[in-house]
Amino acid sequence: MKKFSQRFRFGLATVLLASSLAGCGIVSDGGAGAGAGSGSGNAPNNSGGAANGGAGDDGKIVIGMSMDTLKEERWQKDRDIFTEKVQELGGEVKVLAANGDDATQLSQAEQLISQGVDVLVVIAHNAEATAPIVEKAHKEGIKVIAYDRMINNAEVDYYISFDNVRVGELQAQAVTAAAQKGNIVYIGGADTDNNAHMFKEGAMNVLKPLEEKGDIKIVYDQFSKDWKPEEALKNMENALTANKNDVQGVVAANDATAGGAIQALTAQGMAGKVPVSGQDADLAAVQRIAEGTQLMTVYKPIKSIATKAAEMAVSAAKGENIGTDKTVNNGKIDVPSVLLDPIPVDKSSLNTVIEDGFHKLEDVYKNVPKDQWPQQ
Ligand code: BGC
Repeated sequence: MKKFSQRFRFGLATVLLASSLAGCGIVSDGGAGAGAGSGSGNAPNNSGGAANGGAGDDGKIVIGMSMDTLKEERWQKDRDIFTEKVQELGGEVKVLAANGDDATQLSQAEQLISQGVDVLVVIAHNAEATAPIVEKAHKEGIKVIAYDRMINNAEVDYYISFDNVRVGELQAQAVTAAAQKGNIVYIGGADTDNNAHMFKEGAMNVLKPLEEKGDIKIVYDQFSKDWKPEEALKNMENALTANKNDVQGVVAANDATAGGAIQALTAQGMAGKVPVSGQDADLAAVQRIAEGTQLMTVYKPIKSIATKAAEMAVSAAKGENIGTDKTVNNGKIDVPSVLLDPIPVDKSSLNTVIEDGFHKLEDVYKNVPKDQWPQQ
């Protein structure tokens, strides 16, 4: 479809601006290039169910999806639901995942742009380093949607995410309700991810006033590189060593970091005794909640964000106006935004993720004796 819309735009511009647009980029149909779905040599993970080859000129809408990673459970769900919805709306999706590498994400995005996608959806590994992608896309008349993670200092067209400050607040509220006094550790996410800063802001909104009151003390506060569990494990080991294991609560920014933190607590015989938060309702995390080693997670219905983002992407491809009721400033502009509500889930509300079809009861309670499973 790109070729047609580009041609139309170019034709119109030519009429309006005569020769001044001589340098305007026309996107080729990319038919000769390598297929986006097989571009990174990681085909099983990278495929989004889209056909290889460039965006065609058959009038079909093609959405490019440039992902930070597919190595975490949630992002595979994002990809699958997004792709399915775009297909349902008559389009196709080309997915490339950069496995946490900034240069790879940039070149993959360029690949998608040069293949003439109609809209580019970006899940940024690095909030700052992805800014040039927006500029490059715009040069070719391609709109950019920042998916779940903001791209900073760029003219992003739309942003869709959850209320990430609220996520951090929910985590810290739950941990400090369970550990009302004592030493609290903050295990953050990736410093490069704008969300990690918002989660921390939210957590500190709750923790700081409690510290000022003298109820708690924030004894450790570090980011975990690339959200890796092994980085969180190291952080938690350092926090325990520095405080001689005198730790009463852990606010971990997501389920991957919670997993690392709980591993360190387990090694000290402290798992299940110290409340730990998380986020994403990953299967491993909801199993830990059922078993009692993790206090809570923050469930963000991936179906909602992926479905809405797919609708936005297809509308943007058609040149339709997208209704948004919020804006989020990214350092450069106020980006029209859709922000969805996160849902806290603990042992008493595990049913939320089961009823929503996010996980199956038998998977959630797999490690719990059957006589302790909830009545159905
Ligand atoms: C997302 C989280 C996710 C984390 C690590 C964040 O940007 O909002 O849901 O756990 O990245 O992938």
